[in-house]
Parts: sequence; C-alpha cells; structure tokens
Amino acid sequence: MPKLAILTSGGDAPGMNMAVWAACNALEPRGWSCVGVREGFAGLLVGNFVGLNAASILPYTRLGGTFLGTSRDPGFRAKLPEALRALQAADINHLMVLGGNGSLQGARILAQAGLCVVGLPATIDNDVAASEESIGFDTALNLGLLLLDQFRDTAESLPRLCALETLGGSTGFLARAVGQAGGADALLLPEEPLPLERLLEITQTAVARHRFALIVASEGYPGLEATLEALSERVGLRLRFARPSHTLRGGRPSARDRLLARVLAEAGVEHLANHRSGALLIQQGQPVLVPFEQLEPYKTPFGQV
Ligand code: F6P
Repeated sequence: MPKLAILTSGGDAPGMNMAVWAACNALEPRGWSCVGVREGFAGLLVGNFVGLNAASILPYTRLGGTFLGTSRDPGFRAKLPEALRALQAADINHLMVLGGNGSLQGARILAQAGLCVVGLPATIDNDVAASEESIGFDTALNLGLLLLDQFRDTAESLPRLCALETLGGSTGFLARAVGQAGGADALLLPEEPLPLERLLEITQTAVARHRFALIVASEGYPGLEATLEALSERVGLRLRFARPSHTLRGGRPSARDRLLARVLAEAGVEHLANHRSGALLIQQGQPVLVPFEQLEPYKTPFGQV
C-alpha cells in the first residue's frame, strides 16, 4: 500500500491543519495510508511518525497552528542520510511538505535524493517565491486589519502617532496588505525604506488632514524603533507603538485559507499519485507544479511572478 508522510515546517501558519486533513481525505479512498511527521524536519530525522486518518483529524481544521508541530532546522542537507534511513525504515517514499521558502528547499533536497515530494507554500509572510498566495497569509491579514481598525478608533478620538508592526521576517508583504486594506497613512517596508524627511512629509500631511497618523510597519524595517521615535519628535505627536508579534500568527484559519489549503493539498495528492515532484505554487489563481530546480530563493517585491 503506498504511504504518504506529511510534514509541517518553519513558522506555523493557520490552514496547515486543513491541508493535512485534505491530503488524507483525498488519499484514503485511493487506498493510501498517511502518516504525520511530528515537529517538522527535526522529527523526520528521528522517525517521529504518527498514523493519521481523516476522520480523527477533521476537528483540527478549524484551529490555527499545526497539530503535528514544527521546527526550524537550517542544517537539514547535512543530515539527509538520517532522514532517508528513517523514511526507509517506515517504508515511506512519498512526502508532502508545508512551509515557507526554507522548508521548500528541504523538500527539494529530499526530491533530489529520489523521493516523490510535493511542497506547498504555507507562511503568513506570503513571501514564497513565484506564488501569489500562501496558506496562512489571509488569516494573518484579517487579524492585522482588525487591529489596525481598532487602532484607528482610538487614534481618531485621542490623536497620536500610531504605528502597528506586523510579522513578515525580512519582507513587507503582510504589512503592505494590512496597511493598504486599512487605509494606513504610511507603510514602512524593508523593501522600500523611506528617507526620514519623506516620511515626515507624509506624516505631516496626514496630521494636517485628520490630527493623527496611522503607520503600518514590517518587523524587518531597518532601524524601525529609532525611526518612529525620531518621527514622533519631529511631528510633535506622542508615539504609540503596537507590536502584536506572534499573536498575528495564530487563530482560526479564514475561509480563504482553508479553501486554499484544500485546493493545494488535493492538487498535491494528484501529483504524488502520478509520481510527480515539485513545488505547488499559486499562479494566476491556480495551483501550478513548478520543478524544485526552478524555484527562486526569494519572492520578487511585490509579488509579481
Ligand atoms: O514564519 C514566518 C515568521 O512568522 C516571520 O513572520 C517571523 O519573522 C518569524 O517567522 C518568527 O520566527 P520564530 O517563530 O522562529 O520567532
């Protein structure tokens, strides 16, 4: 009986659980068995597998995070022989890997070693190279937008220089989407640093218009805190800096993320059943299997594939 191992890796993302369920749900009628890998690539190295069946994991689909657990292991390439031994011992030669750019590189290493592997983009950062969307982004975007809306309520009442920081690593895809959806006055994105004088101009215009200024910044913006403090002093408004940090990564997956997870996982199953490996990316709204060798390490700012 063919056997698939499913692994979630790197930063967890809402919708990962849905993808795991959707893969099992699609494979069971085909007579495949599914196992989950606990704690990502670290668990793979030690053969930390758990049997899965669709019915018992369905309740996790409405939860954020990943019930399988995850890990960050940048040195996976050097440990490949251990992973191959563990997979062979468990008679597994098909794998589905969910995660961001680093995790897809791990998937690539396994595919190059002869396994049949599909990688699915799953990260709230939405920075997977050449993919318009990734699982988890929409949920984080909605949560960030809720926080920005709430920040605006208080800013409108008691004018301040209000800055909301999002996660996003060294990229600004999440911050940009939150800010654009919520009508922020300024965006501070690592890809497009603004000279202080330009930021001051934008902020003064906003303050002249509505007495406060609302800024969305990505955590990777160079010198973020110092920039905001200098701005607050120059513009003459007290700074209120909201840093939701990892709380932005959790929560009930949105409908869009669940649907995306399902579409990707079902397409992934189809490719695995046909012995095809690669990264399954969203291009022009559709899942497209891209050979791992063609995968760029980073996404082009801002999101053009
Ligand atoms: O998974 C991506 C991400 O959430 C980034 O947005 C963030 O910078 C990073 O992970 C945080 O990593 P960690 O959970 O290891 O602190």
